[in-house]
Amino acid sequence: MKKLLFAFLLIYAGNIYAQKFEGLALTPPMGWNSWNTFAVNINEDLVMGIADKMVSSGMKDAGYNYLVLDDAWMAKERDNQGNLVTDPKKFPHGIKAVADYVHAKGLKFGLYNCAGTKTCAGYPGTRGYEYQDARQYAAWGVDYLKFDWCNTEGINAKEAYTTMSKAIKAAGRPMIFSLCEWGSNKPWEWAAPVGQLWRTTSDITNLFSGVKKINNWEPFSVMRIIELQNAIRKYAGPDHWNDPDMLEVGNGMTRNEDRAHFSMWCMLAAPLIAGNDLRKMTPQTTEILTNKEVIAVDQDSLGVEGYKYAEKDSVETWIKPLKGGLAICFLNRSLKPQAIEFKWADNPLHDDLSGMTVNFNTTAYKVRDVWTKKDIGKTTKTFKQEVPAHDVVMLRLYK
Ligand code: GLA
Repeated sequence: MKKLLFAFLLIYAGNIYAQKFEGLALTPPMGWNSWNTFAVNINEDLVMGIADKMVSSGMKDAGYNYLVLDDAWMAKERDNQGNLVTDPKKFPHGIKAVADYVHAKGLKFGLYNCAGTKTCAGYPGTRGYEYQDARQYAAWGVDYLKFDWCNTEGINAKEAYTTMSKAIKAAGRPMIFSLCEWGSNKPWEWAAPVGQLWRTTSDITNLFSGVKKINNWEPFSVMRIIELQNAIRKYAGPDHWNDPDMLEVGNGMTRNEDRAHFSMWCMLAAPLIAGNDLRKMTPQTTEILTNKEVIAVDQDSLGVEGYKYAEKDSVETWIKPLKGGLAICFLNRSLKPQAIEFKWADNPLHDDLSGMTVNFNTTAYKVRDVWTKKDIGKTTKTFKQEVPAHDVVMLRLYK
């Protein structure tokens, strides 16, 4: 009897002290966020227009279900009770009204704030108001909180994010908690019990490779971000994802570059948070963002991040173990098309992390090109193809 009581107590304590709501992101979260295109220029009409388009463009059907408002939705000061105040010009009907609109479309709604005294764009931050703000978000119907790291001088990241995670839990409404401290404090080592995803780098920009300066600041190109992911793949998995930042698809790179960027995010089991103006999206962009076969690689239930298997003549070969098979992506980083030849039988695969072992000599897989959506033969035949400049060839292998 005593033993039983003790067991109950343990389970009860576990539930109270478990930091995050479990099971909200068994596959990487998908959605849209305002920052990459609109920065501080957001308002009620934009949210409603984007919500409409998420449904009519097929984004929602493809799995994008969170609409997240980033920085600058607030007024510059809290009220005299310390409550956050919505910017009355941008959101004349308040945040609850836009959240209701988004929910009525069958989508979920997300907001942004920051662990510091002010957000990165200079609006009231949450430091010292964690429980009060979490209650406010819950009352508004918020389903996702992105939590940034500006103006946090002298505070401990693990503690600050843990406090906010507990505040969300205490507020009682399940919310995905997205840590955005840019990988500065190695969140992959401690954030799995705290949130569902954590940024791994500084901010992305709409640049495939190379350097672009914005004033004195250097945001990261797509290739630079990819280079930093291989080493931390073991930390990600269902309900706790490495986040290499939001998508720049449709924001000015070429079609090939967009396709490569999107493919690689899927190989990395990255959260897929679109950041383009969905209301003006070209058919080409829609085709990339809503390719269900490529998305299925990202959303695979094993939840294992891909790894870099080989590198030759500027072509990287990435492998992602999948339930019942695997994906293989040839990424051409150069400005010239590159011919590839892959002899399956010469490439037995083994991945310690997932335990995947493949010997093409004893098991033949069917090969499908997930961009052309065609079955192209079996692994009994050497794969030969040209990969265009700044592009990929991405295959799914199944039995
Ligand atoms: C930081 C984040 C971005 C965005 C801006 C908003 O730079 O990393 O994703 O949220 O702040 O100010």
